[in-house]
Amino acid sequence: MLVTQQKVLRRFWYATMPVSMLDDGPQPFKLLGESIVLWKGNGGKPHALRDRCCHRTAKLSKGFVDDEGNIACGYHGWTYDCSGKCVKIPQNPGGQIPSSAIVQSYRCEERYGYVWVALEEPLQPIPEFPEEGAPGYRRILQFYEKWNTSPLRMMENSFDNSHFSFVHKSNFGLFTNPQPSKYEFRPNEWGFEAETHVPVRNPPASFRITGTTEDVTERHLVNRWYMPFSRRFGCQYPASGVHHIIYNCATPIDDSTMMLAQWLYRNDSEQACSTQELVDWDRPITDEDRDILEATDYDACIDIQRQQECHMESDKPGLLMRRMLVKLLADHGEREVFREPDEVR
Ligand code: FES
Ligand SMILES: [Fe+2]
Repeated sequence: MLVTQQKVLRRFWYATMPVSMLDDGPQPFKLLGESIVLWKGNGGKPHALRDRCCHRTAKLSKGFVDDEGNIACGYHGWTYDCSGKCVKIPQNPGGQIPSSAIVQSYRCEERYGYVWVALEEPLQPIPEFPEEGAPGYRRILQFYEKWNTSPLRMMENSFDNSHFSFVHKSNFGLFTNPQPSKYEFRPNEWGFEAETHVPVRNPPASFRITGTTEDVTERHLVNRWYMPFSRRFGCQYPASGVHHIIYNCATPIDDSTMMLAQWLYRNDSEQACSTQELVDWDRPITDEDRDILEATDYDACIDIQRQQECHMESDKPGLLMRRMLVKLLADHGEREVFREPDEVR
């Protein structure tokens, strides 16, 4: 799926960057191929505009935030409020500001420590993640990095529990047990929930992650897909009662790149397992996923027929996702746009 070609994808909220990055001033971001600038206004609320000054096209992300919380262009100081209206032309003080002096603005909200942006009127609110602010849970920002793959590949991988035995064999994957466990699916209009129980290796390095010291332990997974490119990895370790709940947003930058925004909720204490341990544990696992996904032909059409014939249990979530996305496109008068497999990139 060439994400920049599918207009309906502009009608969802995406996690763009940690809000703390805006403490350093305006920042550029590319969302679905569109260059935007993000900044923090007065009161700390984030704002998003197209990253082009309407005077002589300088990137507003090169500018600065003024005392009123507006964004000023770094070239000649034209200044814009959060609606994109030009409110100041320093070379013409007290003069009329033409009504055409306006820059495209976008919906922008802070949630879960991230700046969320929707390019066009959203079909759905920002997804609700119930662990946020719930008693006993702490939030840990884990990873924020660009991946050279597509968000759909990232999403299908995150529900595919047959890759554990291969991609993650050096940490939690059981190489001798490649048969994936069955999911129970509960689809809804905007995604699905998929529940399963997966045996995993529990080397000493993961004792404080899992909260248990058995050689092999179980993950009870209640995962969720939030259309189009967010997911919950709802992992509980029944042996200890520890929850390790990861949210991933695979934010589409352009047709060949996505931004991984990943954070974690734990129901234990910093003493039981520190933030650094939790980042260090998931770092190599995330790198392994990235490495294999960057090695896929990530925007080619998937042969749904062939995958169905293989009866691969672990392909089911990805196929269901794709079917639901194709239906979403059709409901909005679009068809999936993709490259032919093996076309030279
Ligand atoms: S280009 Fe922005 S003020 Fe001139
Ligand atoms: Fe993985």
